[in-house]
Amino acid sequence: MPRGFFITLEGLDGSGKTTQIKRLAAWLTNRGQAPILTRQPGGTETGDRIRGVILDARSGPLAPMTEMALMFADRAQAIDEVIKPGLVAGKIVLCDRFTDSTEAYQGGGRQIGSDVVLDLHRLICGGLQPDLTLLLLPSFEASLKRARRRNDRMEAQTGKNEGRFEKEQDDFYQRVWQKYREIAARESDRVVLIEGDMTIEEVHEQIVEAVAARLMAKIWSK
Ligand code: TYD
Repeated sequence: MPRGFFITLEGLDGSGKTTQIKRLAAWLTNRGQAPILTRQPGGTETGDRIRGVILDARSGPLAPMTEMALMFADRAQAIDEVIKPGLVAGKIVLCDRFTDSTEAYQGGGRQIGSDVVLDLHRLICGGLQPDLTLLLLPSFEASLKRARRRNDRMEAQTGKNEGRFEKEQDDFYQRVWQKYREIAARESDRVVLIEGDMTIEEVHEQIVEAVAARLMAKIWSK
């Protein structure tokens, strides 16, 4: 299949991912490579409904397996409706979270383990892998502080607490964090790890450097 370029962004809640994905999209657009921008969970009509079920704190606790199955249901729909068509059309597809999130949060955080997640990825997603994954891991303390601040702000503004995960305990996040590091070590060709507490501008520069290098390598390999 003719193939565009598939980039995913990963990181803990509060890692600054949303800001960085917007900046990267603008950077690509300025260079005549406007990407298709999407996120998980969500990004399709069905996916947005699934997202509502997952994130709505009022829906009560979800069994870990239910949560994981919903993540994959959302992903299968996004691959079919957005990601594959975009890649077939030769576009850059920029996705806020993908299967690494399921491995980190459900596999690590909820302690389901990596094997089940990776098996399901093969079965449900046909093993579709990003060409490049940018993993933002500022210090654990900084991420947590930012995520909780955002959660409180949202609740004060809307009266609604969307951040179901953001109410989890520190040890849950520690496991997510650990699993992300494990993924980065295991998949070092695909995953670029951007660590430490840097300014928005510094992180953006590192992202742009990684993306430019991979895009050039792709052009040369043709
Ligand atoms: P979101 O509001 O999109 O947070 P963020 O801006 O940090 O991405 O909420 C998505 C939440 O869903 C986030 O806490 C991570 C979680 N998640 C999983 O647990 N498993 C998954 O497979 C995905 C895609 C997300």
